[in-house]
Amino acid sequence: MKRYRLCFLGFGNVGRALARLLVAKSQELRERYEIEWEITGVATRRMGWRASGEAIDVANTDQIPSKNGFHEWLATARPDVLFETTSLNPETGQPAIDYLKASLQSGAHTITANKAPIVYAYDELNEISKANGKSFLFEATVLDSAPVFSLFRETLPGVKVRGFSGVFNSTTNVILESMEAGRTFAEGVKMAQELGVAETDPTHDVEGWDSIMKICAIARVILRTPLLPSDVRREGIRGLDPDTVQAARAEGRPFKLLSRATVNMDGSVSASVRPEQIGTGDPFSSVRGTSLAIHFELDTIPGLTVVSHRPNLQSTAYGLLADFINATRYQER
Ligand SMILES: NC(=O)c1ccc[n+]([C@@H]2O[C@H](COP(=O)([O-])OP(=O)(O)OC[C@H]3O[C@@H](n4cnc5c(N)ncnc54)[C@H](OP(=O)(O)O)[C@@H]3O)[C@@H](O)[C@H]2O)c1
Repeated sequence: MKRYRLCFLGFGNVGRALARLLVAKSQELRERYEIEWEITGVATRRMGWRASGEAIDVANTDQIPSKNGFHEWLATARPDVLFETTSLNPETGQPAIDYLKASLQSGAHTITANKAPIVYAYDELNEISKANGKSFLFEATVLDSAPVFSLFRETLPGVKVRGFSGVFNSTTNVILESMEAGRTFAEGVKMAQELGVAETDPTHDVEGWDSIMKICAIARVILRTPLLPSDVRREGIRGLDPDTVQAARAEGRPFKLLSRATVNMDGSVSASVRPEQIGTGDPFSSVRGTSLAIHFELDTIPGLTVVSHRPNLQSTAYGLLADFINATRYQER
């Protein structure tokens, strides 16, 4: 049995869902994986840097000693595993990138749900992780917890990826389906917000930026191509009016905001995000509501699709938990 000291950097929707899931799964972790855990640090912008050399209770954060900034926090909490779930900074990935580097350098397995550090600093973070013999894992970043990165790391060795496409954004799915049912764009946004999938300002989702970040993260890790958001052709769903959306549905070829990346003959990658009509034989025809999916074209398997049906916050938290379990197993190899 090994007892792991855990730290939460960022403690919003995802961080809190992970804390709940760890409690719910603690018996299974003990009995099946010989993992025990305690939390020694938690931090958010408003809460500040809370840490102790001992186990803390994240339900009572006011009781936890406050530290003077990230480095003192890390040195006090001394995590074996750090979970980074701070907000996305799509322009630079900072300050999360610096936090992740320091976490790996301190000797912690480092797990993130944040896409931007993968887009802007994957190679560097991966090098630091290898140099320190600790895992850097990020399965929750793209399809909440459905296997994308681990699929290629674990299950499909030696395969060559020729391209991928995906429905990566549930907000746009919900808005388009709401418009198909005769509602306005604004009503669709409201519905996505009520379902808890859209933020107060849904611009990132609606204009395609969320999907672009996911394309770039997958291209970086799986295609080994440093694609930047500015390299991806982008068209959001704002230009679609309800009549066009309804006519497409009536014709049996509804619109979805589709992400695509193709490896060209010279090895370069072309990528786009734009609304496309989906026919009945398409791998994404069953992807409705908040469901997400990715389809790979591989040299040895013509088409491989992973669909995550109606993922929720617990699904995202599970992506981080699975990374935690895998990190402890990779260390044992
Ligand atoms: N929600 C999902 O379903 C989902 C799915 C996959 C991936 N993700 C990714 O997971 C991450 C977290 O998402 P979420 O929904 O949990 O967001 P959230 O509820 O807004 O929580 C973000 C947390 O990060 C903290 N934070 C932000 N910037 C910080 C900084 N510079 N230093 C310290 N703490 C900071 C926030 O603190 P304050 O509240 O005090 O500002 C808050 O506790 C994001 O990167 C998101 O893209 C989310």
